Amino acid sequence: MKTPTYAAQYAASLHDPEAFWAGLAGQLHWFQEPPRPVLSQDPDSGLDRWFRGGKLNTSWLCLDFHVQHGRADQVALVYDSPVTGQVRRYTYRELLDLTSRFAGGLRQLGVGPGERVIVYMPNLPEAVVTMLACARLGAVHSVVFGGFAPHELAVRLNDAEPCVLVCASAGLEFDKVIPYKPLVEAALALANHRPDHVVVLQRDFCPAELVPERDVDFRYLLQAAPVDAVPLDATDPLYILYTSGTTGRPKGVVRDNGGHAVALKYSMAAIFGMQPGETFWAASDIGWAVGHSYSVYGPLLHGCTTVLFEGKPVRTPDAGTFWRVIQDHQVRVLFTAPTAIRAIKKEDPTAQLARQYDLSSLRHLFVAGERCDPATYAWAGTTLGVPVVDHWWQTESGWPMLATPVGLADAPAPRAGSAGHPVPGYNVQIVDESGRPVPAGTTGLVAVRLPLPPGCLPTLWRDDARFRSSYLDALPGYYASGDGGYQDAEGYFYIMGRVDDVINVAGHRLSTGEIEELLAAHPAVAECAVLGIACELRGQVPVGLVVLKDGYNLPEEQLQQELVARIRERIGAVACFRQAAVVQRLPKTRSGKILRKTLRQLADGEPFVLPSTIDDPAILDEIRAVLAARGIGQAFAPRVPLG
Ligand code: COA
Ligand code: AMP
Repeated sequence: MKTPTYAAQYAASLHDPEAFWAGLAGQLHWFQEPPRPVLSQDPDSGLDRWFRGGKLNTSWLCLDFHVQHGRADQVALVYDSPVTGQVRRYTYRELLDLTSRFAGGLRQLGVGPGERVIVYMPNLPEAVVTMLACARLGAVHSVVFGGFAPHELAVRLNDAEPCVLVCASAGLEFDKVIPYKPLVEAALALANHRPDHVVVLQRDFCPAELVPERDVDFRYLLQAAPVDAVPLDATDPLYILYTSGTTGRPKGVVRDNGGHAVALKYSMAAIFGMQPGETFWAASDIGWAVGHSYSVYGPLLHGCTTVLFEGKPVRTPDAGTFWRVIQDHQVRVLFTAPTAIRAIKKEDPTAQLARQYDLSSLRHLFVAGERCDPATYAWAGTTLGVPVVDHWWQTESGWPMLATPVGLADAPAPRAGSAGHPVPGYNVQIVDESGRPVPAGTTGLVAVRLPLPPGCLPTLWRDDARFRSSYLDALPGYYASGDGGYQDAEGYFYIMGRVDDVINVAGHRLSTGEIEELLAAHPAVAECAVLGIACELRGQVPVGLVVLKDGYNLPEEQLQQELVARIRERIGAVACFRQAAVVQRLPKTRSGKILRKTLRQLADGEPFVLPSTIDDPAILDEIRAVLAARGIGQAFAPRVPLG
């Protein structure tokens, strides 16, 4: 069959979205085909929904379908764990067997359609089995990144109200053992909602004590009789994934079953150019959207082999580990974050280690999670000898919005610094604050004209109002992404960073608003501002500027230690909050709004226009002096070039 062109697919997707997506839905097996129209509005909320009335099961499509269609003995999942020294392979038949048994075990614990199950585990095959088992039963999983502290887990317990929590007894960060069970117990003590059962996967290097009656051994549940997949409505939720918003309350992004399956299957072929049977590796944690979509669901929906990696790009055991995995598992496409490439480049600038492996299986490197700076882009391309594709998406979209869809013919070639072109289904526009498109080359807000295509969040968990106010109200007729950027005259898009209080630290999305709320709760802090300042390795790191309450004159060193410990304890080490400085006052507009953007530009040594609304410009000079004295920020820190 002739490969469709990018231009033709893109035009078709915008001209008649219903026909376009109905055609792609036909590539999946439905227990009941979705009736036309395939796009309609939810009668209660009025929000757009795809494929209402269709019935399917995502776990069935990921497993049973392939077992019944000739892939039973193909490897579905490779678990490669340099931190434990293990490599395990699971065929589609084996993964189905484990999943249907574990689903049977969960059902014995009372888990049924619509119930929530929280998963707090490292990148383990058992975590994937848990996700697929929930999907099989129609239960809604919510995976919480293992690097989050108990407080974050408790917030999610309260919001999702799960009946079961599934965890591992421990994780491994390099060679450091992180016992998870005490973190779970601490979260349960903090939470208002507690699940009836905690299922524990015992890891032999750090087994946990089980609480009688409440706790169940993961392996015990695997002895249950297998159960069949439950037919679900296309609009039933598959999972909730919490992501940072601009406040301390994370947003529960909901993913449905039908739109998600259709969009992900399409993306595997059109965007990543994957054929069923080939190996795809998203080097992400299952706690993030990338892990959900491209370590678990996308590759399995498409009949690929997925690699689940428990390790880091460096020091597990060295900066050649990614290249070894590509060689050992014949990876066709690697998907990672630019920060991982920067970490490798820092340790092996001349890419000596890459030369020790056979990388000939690799066709493309895809990067996302933050803007890929041109130097990293160039280094990766030269090292790997394959095209590097920067592509843009968010937890909310669940799949790429901008990319170079390498599976479509004649897609414009990728370019350093650009996230490419709109993916079919996404009418991406750069607009001003009143929603008017801006001319090429002008920076504005990155927005997507409604309706969003299948796969994107239909709403936030139990909060349609927050969904509307967060994404739809600011720019009527559009989904507001929260990112800023521009489009050049040739149509390439450039995403330049968030326009709200969200920052990206080593590809992890964090809320400066949440960090501010936690710092402000320290008894000595009168007010504060948290900035995401540029970091050569992690992209951005948070830094706090605090004003002390009158009468508090804590030594600055001690205060910083207390504030750093507070963020580590409440959000987790992953926030990388390591610096706080005391300032006399913060720059504000005359109406009292802290000028965070100006502060960030000041710290990063970027030129900025003095805001006309600033109440006292002299404050900026005071803060510049404090930052310089403390060596905080690009403008002041001694520069150690990477690579
Ligand atoms: N469980 C417990 N702790 C975790 C954790 C987890 N799953 N993940 C990270 N942490 C801890 C780390 O141990 C570290 O703790 P420390 O301050 O006590 O040393 C802290 O959080 C910061 O972690 P990280 O930012 O990962 O730093 P690092 O030095 O361990 O590794 C990189 C740096 C760049 C190698 C790493 O951040 C990385 O691989 N980034 C890529 C991320 C990515 O792929 N993002 C996905 C989206 S596509
Ligand atoms: P997350 O929801 O964690 O996937 O983070 C989404 C955010 O990461 C986006 O809103 C962007 O700010 C940023 N991001 C993701 N991919 C890219 C990219 N290719 N270029 C620039 N920023 C990106």
